[in-house]
Amino acid sequence: MKGSIDPVWEEIHSTQEWGQYPSEHVIRFVARNYYKKDRRSVKILDFGVGGGAHTWYLAREGFDVYGFDGSPSAVRKAEAKLAREHLSAHLCCATGQDVSYEDDFFDAVIDNVTSYANYQNDIIVMYAKMLRFLKPGGKILTSVFGRNTTGYGCGRKVEEDTFTDMQEGNLAGRGVCHFYTKDTLTGTLQKVGFRNVCCDTCTYTDGDSVVELLLATGEK
Ligand SMILES: C[S@@+](CC[C@H](N)C(=O)[O-])C[C@H]1O[C@@H](n2cnc3c(N)ncnc32)[C@H](O)[C@@H]1O
Repeated sequence: MKGSIDPVWEEIHSTQEWGQYPSEHVIRFVARNYYKKDRRSVKILDFGVGGGAHTWYLAREGFDVYGFDGSPSAVRKAEAKLAREHLSAHLCCATGQDVSYEDDFFDAVIDNVTSYANYQNDIIVMYAKMLRFLKPGGKILTSVFGRNTTGYGCGRKVEEDTFTDMQEGNLAGRGVCHFYTKDTLTGTLQKVGFRNVCCDTCTYTDGDSVVELLLATGEK
């Protein structure tokens, strides 16, 4: 693999359990846009499958699902999760910088807190790939962390708005994290070429930590 992934992810996936159930905002995006279509012919890419929660949900709902992750342990766990319920998806191990699919192939790409865990240059490469892989009119859902999340400004600053080695908040121990505002996320997606970009926020507390999720959709 040429592109890199923070090694912390293989460490996490090879030693810890990851979330087993899909996020509500992913379900809402998929339900609103794709439940009424002929699901077997709707191709959806899970960009960074982690433990496979979203791949599992999408396969269970009858979509034609593709996914990858840069952590071999994550991909193995996602495959095992599907196999336990005799579900299938096209999975592989790859980095988001190098992963390759046909152009104009997917109806939707779901990046649920994957690209944010990278340096800005790599994030742009990934968003450009997501755009290229989408059919004209295809949609992206990307969720990232906002600057109001505990951990922003802590740890080691590696570039503007990107930190690592954070010791506080829910992102402690999770390696590189790029933080956004609504404007920087919207601007990034528009610059890459997405149309009709719309960004919502979801902020909650978890004990002493604040988590600000920015949830953006856009179209090719
Ligand atoms: C916070 S987890 C989210 C996983 C999954 N999308 C979910 O919602 O449960 C981030 C995932 O992105 C993967 N990841 C981060 N950077 C990556 C990269 N450059 N290439 C491939 N995978 C990457 C990690 O291995 C990890 O599984």
